[in-house]
Amino acid sequence: MKISFSKIEIPSSGAIVVGVYEDRKLTPTAAQLDKQSKGALERALGASRFKGKPDDILTVLAPSGLEVSRIVLVGLGKPGALDAAGVQAIGGRLVAHLANSGESAAAIAIDDAGDQKLATAEQAANLAYGARLRSYRFDKYRTTEKPEAKPTLKKLTVMCGDPNAAKKAYDPLQRIGDGVFVTRDLVSEPANVIFPESLAQEAQKLSELGVKVEILGEKKMRELGMGALLGVGQGSERESQLVVMVWEGAPDARNKAPVAFVGKGVTFDTGGISIKPAAGMEEMKWDMGGAGAVIGALHALAGRKAKANVVGIAGLVENMPSGTAQRPGDVVKSMSGQTIEVINTDAEGRLVLADALWYCRDRFKPQAMIDLATLTGAIMVSLGREHAGLFANNDALAERLLAAGKAVGEPLWRMPLGEAYDKLINSDIADMKNVGNRWGGSITAAQFLQRFVKDTPWAHLDIAGMAWSEKDSAVVPKGATAYGVRLLDRFVADNYEEK
Ligand code: BES
Ligand code: MN
Ligand code: ZN
Repeated sequence: MKISFSKIEIPSSGAIVVGVYEDRKLTPTAAQLDKQSKGALERALGASRFKGKPDDILTVLAPSGLEVSRIVLVGLGKPGALDAAGVQAIGGRLVAHLANSGESAAAIAIDDAGDQKLATAEQAANLAYGARLRSYRFDKYRTTEKPEAKPTLKKLTVMCGDPNAAKKAYDPLQRIGDGVFVTRDLVSEPANVIFPESLAQEAQKLSELGVKVEILGEKKMRELGMGALLGVGQGSERESQLVVMVWEGAPDARNKAPVAFVGKGVTFDTGGISIKPAAGMEEMKWDMGGAGAVIGALHALAGRKAKANVVGIAGLVENMPSGTAQRPGDVVKSMSGQTIEVINTDAEGRLVLADALWYCRDRFKPQAMIDLATLTGAIMVSLGREHAGLFANNDALAERLLAAGKAVGEPLWRMPLGEAYDKLINSDIADMKNVGNRWGGSITAAQFLQRFVKDTPWAHLDIAGMAWSEKDSAVVPKGATAYGVRLLDRFVADNYEEK
């Protein structure tokens, strides 16, 4: 879908979209259209349940007195009440409404209401952003889809008083959107296409944006002593990889400790010898959603030239059962020197992160370290699929993440850590075991990770319930969500960038 900005002008074809406030109060452009169509809009409103609430949409087809093919009325709520997220959601719902309508072009008029929270140019930019986020579709493998099943909407024009200002405000949002799309593509791809080496090659492309990318193979990781990560990958034909991405955007780049993001990248999780049941196992292609989000976040940050130093690390492995696979009961030695008894080979994400986190803090001494991982089914039992779980050893860091998640509509819910939970992963034979007992599975997983961060301010985001969605929402079509990309971008923008 092509997006452009222009001055407000009623088009001579295609759809025109105009706003209506609560209690059916027409915006100036809506009032103008109503006049030109001899009251068709007021009559249509009168015949419908449209109230002007932010999720109301009403279409008037082929209005007489006008050349447009349809007028779409969108609810704006109370005048001046919409914030960025609200405008993005309207853009998203509009695209969903028009995508398969048969319409190929739509123009949206954003009138200046004077007293609003967001300047009209900002509204226009955010509307375009929400529309683009919702327009995402992963259809490269559908070779026999009928043309009439494909979306028709190709062109979206966002009209406002100052299109140049809107374009300028849209530029960084477009970059963040690019990062979101990169992640959605990576997470959507099946595991025969995206495996550790191919995912590392995708991350390598960040170098085009000025990110320094290094890829460590198994030999290098063995030298570093990463026995925990390597043990997970040892049953796979595919070579494990560790990707290191460095973005130095701070003006005084040399002497500023970075913020670090660390992602779990299990490109397929069969469970290993502790094999998962067949039903639903195909979902485990998205067990690299944490690494995917880290790659997409770096793409967004570098794309918009964020003035901050950020490191991304992705631990990439495939968890397979085979004659060389790790067995339950095996003891591995992590890069930190701590030994781990592997009780359950399906609790593999924490083993990967143990070495990735240790390596990250050891090499970069980050001022904050945040990992993202589709780590436990238990987090979905706790929080459903509406919040990711947040665990942190630092309250200020937790607050910053909670605020960023709230601002972008990627909500987090804080979960506890504590010594009593930590005890549950002590082992009789090694320094720790990789699972606790039946209860609090997300918490014992987080306790495990905490043993590899020492005193670095650290947070863990368990995104198992969020990386993939079974249903459409305003700016996220069902499928790969890219949860975390917008959150991390916002977290950096609000806390680590020089203004
Ligand atoms: N990748 C899974 C977690 C997961 C499950 C993500 C379902 C998304 C949907 C993880 O590696 C795993 O298998 N965790 C186990 C841990 C258990 C063995 C302690 C789990 O949650 O069952
Ligand atoms: Mn697993
Ligand atoms: Zn997993």
